[in-house]
Amino acid sequence: MSILILGGTGEARTLAAALDRRGIPATSSLAGRVSRPRLPAGQVRQGGFGGVDGLAAYLVENGVAAVIDATHPFAATISANAVAACARTGVPLLRYARPGWSGLPGADGWTWVADHQEAARAAAAPGERVFLSTGRQPLSHFTGPLAGHAVLVRVVDPVEEPLPAGWQVIERRGPYLLADERELLRSFRTTTLVTKDSGGDYTRPKLDAAAELGVRIVIVRRPEPASVGTASEPESVATLDEAVQWAVAASC
Ligand SMILES: NC(=O)c1ccc[n+]([C@@H]2O[C@H](COP(=O)([O-])OP(=O)(O)OC[C@H]3O[C@@H](n4cnc5c(N)ncnc54)[C@H](OP(=O)(O)O)[C@@H]3O)[C@@H](O)[C@H]2O)c1
Repeated sequence: MSILILGGTGEARTLAAALDRRGIPATSSLAGRVSRPRLPAGQVRQGGFGGVDGLAAYLVENGVAAVIDATHPFAATISANAVAACARTGVPLLRYARPGWSGLPGADGWTWVADHQEAARAAAAPGERVFLSTGRQPLSHFTGPLAGHAVLVRVVDPVEEPLPAGWQVIERRGPYLLADERELLRSFRTTTLVTKDSGGDYTRPKLDAAAELGVRIVIVRRPEPASVGTASEPESVATLDEAVQWAVAASC
């Protein structure tokens, strides 16, 4: 009987390492989207399960004792699938997610928006020079509204779709240092930073650099926590220690 960690985040890798050190059997699951992903310690599987049915079947066939959903706060589909599949199979589920950035100093002065379409509209004021750090997936929401703007896009893997002329792309993987973020924002003469409320320290320096340089911050709120049909929201923790304690109890 082992723990299934739904991963793809730094938190999930740290958790996998902590369980591995304690000899608690665990398998990390990655979506398989990123080329050359950083692999967690212990067993790893990659690729989608095939929706709720596929995940529920996986839990039963592999005798999974408990699931820890440590996916990114914006990976709403897999989190909802975990809620539904665990409710169906009776497998205990924990949500382990880093806190968001809404409590940071100055966050009240940022432009908080509901989704990427609204972020694109908010960033598209005339003359804005936009640093887009939302990742690759939501780019299509920005290409129309920001087609005529100077835009710097940062992604981990190459962008496959065509981007407007005048957009620049840098491929880089975090963590990012404050000094580098400051230099990046300054050298592009950035006036607006667009990000999502990923939370944590890993990608936070861009916010600190933007605040220092007086760059406007447009930030997409997190999706609502997953709850599907009658399945209630899972127990949720924000720290590694709490997640490890829960896993230890669940694996006894
Ligand atoms: N969204 C972000 O901003 C973001 C940022 C950094 C890292 N990530 C990581 O990247 C992965 C994909 O994110 P997403 O936003 O595309 O997810 P998503 O929209 O919630 O999920 C889409 C589909 O991808 C598959 N999937 C997602 N996470 C998986 C996992 N850990 N293991 C196996 N299958 C998974 C599932 O396919 P099936 O239905 O076939 O099971 C799911 O239905 C996640 O692991 C997430 O932690 C996401």
